[in-house]
Formats: sequence, structure tokens, C-alpha cells
Amino acid sequence: MTSTTSGPLLRIAGLSSGYGRVGVLEGISIDVDPHEIVVILGPNGAGKTTLLNSVSGVARPTAGSIAFEGRDITGMRPEQVVRLGITHCPEGRQIFQRLTVEENLVAAHIGRGGKSFEALRAEVFELFPVLKERRNGMASRMSGGQQQMLAIGRALMA
Ligand SMILES: Nc1ncnc2c1ncn2[C@@H]1O[C@H](COP(=O)(O)OP(=O)(O)O)[C@@H](O)[C@H]1O
Ligand SMILES: [Mg+2]
Repeated sequence: MTSTTSGPLLRIAGLSSGYGRVGVLEGISIDVDPHEIVVILGPNGAGKTTLLNSVSGVARPTAGSIAFEGRDITGMRPEQVVRLGITHCPEGRQIFQRLTVEENLVAAHIGRGGKSFEALRAEVFELFPVLKERRNGMASRMSGGQQQMLAIGRALMA
């Protein structure tokens, strides 16, 4: 990811968010710098997924802001957020079970700019060779771990 500003890659400031009228997060602030990996720890129901859902546009912020590369993305829809280069690799895989491995990767690449499908697929296959071996097999026929590889591969394609 090339950063166009000198500030943090991702800046979450005073974020409150939830689902409809159900408030979950209140006043969360986190900065993520370029090349930094940030881990969020907490018990079940603490709001970790809701935080990520707020960044990817699935949950709706009610206060505060989220900025990516200096650009305000607060309240953007998921399909807009993903085109800026933010991908949410969901818990529980959520791959398309009735599509092949390759078809899952094709679906993930739809609408993206930048790198070609072939170039990205080569990167994913290098990272997870088993996906190349199983490319024409149904996603549902793979093991849990292999399906997780596909979920990560799909996120990288997007
Ligand atoms: N789709 C939803 N609609 C309403 N409430 C939700 C939804 N998803 C999660 N919640 C609630 O939000 C709170 C935080 O959940 P979540 O962010 O999934 O926690 P974590 O990922 O840390 O386990 C919980 O009280 C949960 O019941
Ligand atoms: Mg969660």
C-alpha cells in the first residue's frame, strides 16, 4: 500500500458505532501507521468485529471519524471502502461454498482496479500452493484450513 500522506494509514478517532439503534462502540480511537500491525484483543462480545465492520462499512458509525490515507471514509458503503484497498477477511471464512476455488477468486477481483486478475492469482497461488492444486474443485470440498486459505486469498484478490 503506498501512502499518499505522512500521517497514519488508518486513523479511528472518537468512534461510536453499532447496528441500527443498538450502540456497541463508544469513543474508540486507534491509529495504524504504514507497515504496522495492530492486534485488537478482548472477550467475546467486546466489539472487536463491530470495530472492523465499522471500518469496512458494514456497521454504521454514529459519532467520530475513520480516515484512510488521510481521506475521510466514515459511513462509506462497503463496496466503496474495498475499492480504496481495505479488505475485511471475515471470521468463519464465508467463502462461496458452491463455487470453485478459482471462481471464488474471480468473484473477489470483480470491480477492482490496479493489478490484473492473473497477476494477483499468481501471488495467491504462490502463497497457498494448495489453492492452485484445487483451483477447479468446489470450495465446499476443501478442509477447514484450506477454506481459510481461500478466504485470505480472496481478501488479497480484492
Ligand atoms: N448484527 C448485529 N446486530 C445487533 N447487535 C450485534 C450484531 N452483531 C453484534 N452485535 C452485538 O454487538 C456486541 C459486540 O459484538 P461483536 O462486535 O461481534 O464482538 P466480538 O467480535 O468482540 O466478539 C455484542 O453485544 C453483540 O451482541
Ligand atoms: Mg468477533
